[in-house]
Amino acid sequence: MTEPVQTPQVFPTRVFSGIQPSGSLTLGNYLGALKRFAQKQNEGIETLYCVVDLHAITVWQEPAKLRQQTREIAAAFIASGIDPKKSVLFNQSQVSAHAELAWVLNCVARIGWMYRMTQFKDKAGANSENSSLGLLAYPSLMAADILAYKTTHVPVGEDQKQHLELTRDIANKFNHDYGVKFFPVPEPLIEGAATRVMSLRDGTKKMSKSDPSDASRINLTDDADTIAKKIRKAKTDPEPLPESVEGLDGRPDAKNLVNIYAALADLTPAQVMAQYAGAQFGTFKPALADLAVEKLGPITAEMNRLMAEPDEIDAILGRGAERADAIARPIFDDVKDIVGMIRSRQV
Ligand code: TYM
Repeated sequence: MTEPVQTPQVFPTRVFSGIQPSGSLTLGNYLGALKRFAQKQNEGIETLYCVVDLHAITVWQEPAKLRQQTREIAAAFIASGIDPKKSVLFNQSQVSAHAELAWVLNCVARIGWMYRMTQFKDKAGANSENSSLGLLAYPSLMAADILAYKTTHVPVGEDQKQHLELTRDIANKFNHDYGVKFFPVPEPLIEGAATRVMSLRDGTKKMSKSDPSDASRINLTDDADTIAKKIRKAKTDPEPLPESVEGLDGRPDAKNLVNIYAALADLTPAQVMAQYAGAQFGTFKPALADLAVEKLGPITAEMNRLMAEPDEIDAILGRGAERADAIARPIFDDVKDIVGMIRSRQV
């Protein structure tokens, strides 16, 4: 009989995060996620980044489009500075431990926890009985993505906070139910000026790829003219920029543009205010547009270059998947031992 596996309480630092291939990426995804992913990689930490195609199909995806979007997200990772030699870059469905562990975690998590998720409520809408079962179980698959690698840190935007809390609950319940200290309880990393980039048309709403108004967001595929036009037309109030960050309270549209500027320029919002205190939006918006074009232009160009070579992208994802599998497989074998399943053994 195999004894349950006990692992040391201290887990080596490992970063994991994922992006859904369910539409084109926005400035919110770039500033809240991609840019920070590259920073983590360059701090010399072990980093795994995943295009989460299993998550995408919780709502209907046209198959050819899903494949195309998966490659596009992979291209965006690389164009944003993810080096597939340094980070493990792959698509989720190629590493079967995600789905296998998700099943085990489905049996640990409670249905009530899933119903409480605000993203489920938003996405399922009024007719939630008619949404896919996968959409309800989505956060448990997300917990599996993270725990399959014994991840310790998860950089995400603010909107994923609740899912991360649930992941922590699932890790704790698994450890408790089986009497082990097997999974680390992962820390969300929600840092910087742009953890919640807001709509350019309504500073109280998140910038989102699913917003019906294209003017509400900057897409990573937008050209320079489109970016400049969207920023010029962004909603603002008639007041000039205040003297300090506190002066932005109650001015969500102005605050959003300042935060975007800060995140793009690697400044704090206070430093931006020091530069632009008292400026009219007629001055600030063109400066922001120039900055956005300067920072995003090279990323868009690199994405387009990579997208012209889909075989190369597929090869990169395949190599990443092999590396990811090599980490996840032995961890899942340990899960089988803990749960009481007979695992295959080489004889
Ligand atoms: P997704 O694909 O919706 O978004 C990818 C990342 O972009 C961040 N983000 C934003 N950040 C700031 N401002 C915004 N307006 C904005 N919009 C999106 C998100 O917070 C996210 O970090 N469930 C996840 C994908 C996922 C995942 C995981 C993440 C699946 N498994 C495991 C981390 C770890 C999602 O739908 O993200």
